[in-house]
Amino acid sequence: MTGAPDSCGRSINYLRVSVTDRCNLRCIYCMPPSGVPLLRQSDILSYEEIGTVVRATAEVGINKIRLTGGEPLVRAQLPRLVEMLCEVQGVEEVSLTTNGTLLSRHALELKQAGLTRVNISLDTLRADRYRGITRLGELTAVLHGIETAQEAGLHPVKINVVLIRGVNDDEVLDFAAMTVDREWHVRFIERMPFNGEVDFVPTSEVQQRIGVLGKLEPRVAPTGNGPAAYYRLPGARGTIGFITPLTEPAFCSRCNRLRLTPDGKLRPCLLGEAEIDLRRLLRNNASPETLRRLVQQAVASKPQRHHLEAGRTNPPDADPERSRRTTGEGGGPKRRMSQIGG
Ligand code: 5AD
Ligand code: SF4
Repeated sequence: MTGAPDSCGRSINYLRVSVTDRCNLRCIYCMPPSGVPLLRQSDILSYEEIGTVVRATAEVGINKIRLTGGEPLVRAQLPRLVEMLCEVQGVEEVSLTTNGTLLSRHALELKQAGLTRVNISLDTLRADRYRGITRLGELTAVLHGIETAQEAGLHPVKINVVLIRGVNDDEVLDFAAMTVDREWHVRFIERMPFNGEVDFVPTSEVQQRIGVLGKLEPRVAPTGNGPAAYYRLPGARGTIGFITPLTEPAFCSRCNRLRLTPDGKLRPCLLGEAEIDLRRLLRNNASPETLRRLVQQAVASKPQRHHLEAGRTNPPDADPERSRRTTGEGGGPKRRMSQIGG
């Protein structure tokens, strides 16, 4: 069996595990220049605790794990976690989302530990602009990381591009052109408004612009179970994907995931406030049955969809009193992306 059925007819087979809220960059759309208040080290789940959660999720049919952050590679000994998770019965795939800046150092070791593949966040191909967007990063380090990942066999390497109007949307064609000669799988992501921003670029517009390079041919996904729809330019080695949380009404109907925050909260929805605290239970020696039941509860409580277009998130639960207190504050959840796991 793969996947746990939720109450909306979706099959949940994928867990995104944020291993840290720390990051070595300060992307303008993610963090203020000084960073965000960080969790205490003791509040962050140990690798053993993450392993216990993943055993519980695997038991209900979640067979794919993605490690994310913050920046997962700033956490010490990540390959040790990869190896541990690969050994969990029922886990078929462990992948990673990273900003790529530290990847050249770790790609081979991660591959040897059992990592299947990697997604790299890269919003610009211009060195000066990269420094501007990330405040701290070096573009060359990321490009080197991409190459090293490919050489290490972490295929397919996917590049995530969050488009922001007026910031990097003039690079759509540059990114699209990269897929012709290289095996890059570029995914354009509509930026989700975490603070009520209205600067996302609709996918239809991006597709129209790419039209000058040739007709986009629909493709099956180069692997993976994510939300992207894929295309290819004529004769291209790579693909172009689109992730449309804002302009595709049915986007959430394909959602297949739960999230685990660094401090051990299980989140049924990225854009909802509901969380189930597993850390407290883990530290009180909860039984595997108790954990499994809570995972099932998280699956069952997945909301049907987000309400970003209405400028609000999903309430923590069905209690109308609490809903009133937690909605209507304009766009996005209270935790930041780096604190949830993007
Ligand atoms: N909307 C869409 N994607 C985002 N990311 C970070 N913030 C947002 C946002 N507001 C992306 C990062 C990375 C992934 C972890 O999440 O660029 O690719
Ligand atoms: Fe940038 Fe990701 Fe780090 Fe946020 S967590 S600052 S988006 S690299």
